[in-house]
Amino acid sequence: QLSPIDAAKSIAAKFAVQFVEDGMRVGLGTGSTSAWMIRYLGERIKDDGLDIVCVPSSQRTAELAEGAGIRLSRLDDVKWLDVTIDGADEYDGELTLIKGGGGALLQEKIIATASDRMIVIADHSKEVGHLGAAPLPIEVVPFGLQTTRAMVEAVLEGMDVLGWEAAVRRVDGSPFTTDAGNHILDLHLNRIGDPRRLALALNQVPGVVENGLFIDICDVVVAGHGDGRVEVT
Ligand code: A5P
Repeated sequence: QLSPIDAAKSIAAKFAVQFVEDGMRVGLGTGSTSAWMIRYLGERIKDDGLDIVCVPSSQRTAELAEGAGIRLSRLDDVKWLDVTIDGADEYDGELTLIKGGGGALLQEKIIATASDRMIVIADHSKEVGHLGAAPLPIEVVPFGLQTTRAMVEAVLEGMDVLGWEAAVRRVDGSPFTTDAGNHILDLHLNRIGDPRRLALALNQVPGVVENGLFIDICDVVVAGHGDGRVEVT
């Protein structure tokens, strides 16, 4: 028996894989909702004979996809994608997203931007009036990590936000390392007044590689509910 949240993630993922058609090049997101999507996509390949090639956004997703019998390629080999399906930590009414809770935001943003369409799958509790209750992850290079952190906090003080803390994400005491060999700062902002201005300002800091705000990238959100309902925005 699935918890209501897992049932919601699963139903959103099951609905979204119906958008995938024969011959498509598909970007695969990272996270627990994407794990459901990978499983259902594998079932469609087996049961419907769907012929697709996929680009994973992380090592973790690549391993899951291989296990599900999905044919994988590199982004540079397929060059462009028809659709990317991925989860999100938060989404608002404009379909602006916070992503990166799983630490894969950089590659997720690259594949979503290189896709004709990005479909987000989520349980409906990820919808917010204002972004920022969830921490905003940013990927930073290892060189000068603490100096970059201080520069980021200085940028936050001039922004329309309600919190200014940038915390190094750690696993067992050491900084978390991304697939690209970088680290993650989680920005605790509580409320983001102007996502566009914030995203631009963060990416101006030299040590910042990319931020987890996805603006004008997502086309469709498929939101699942615990009772099996699905809403498409
Ligand atoms: C991974 O880096 C994230 O962007 C995920 O897409 C996001 O954290 C959603 O994860 P869940 O599907 O596990 O909620």
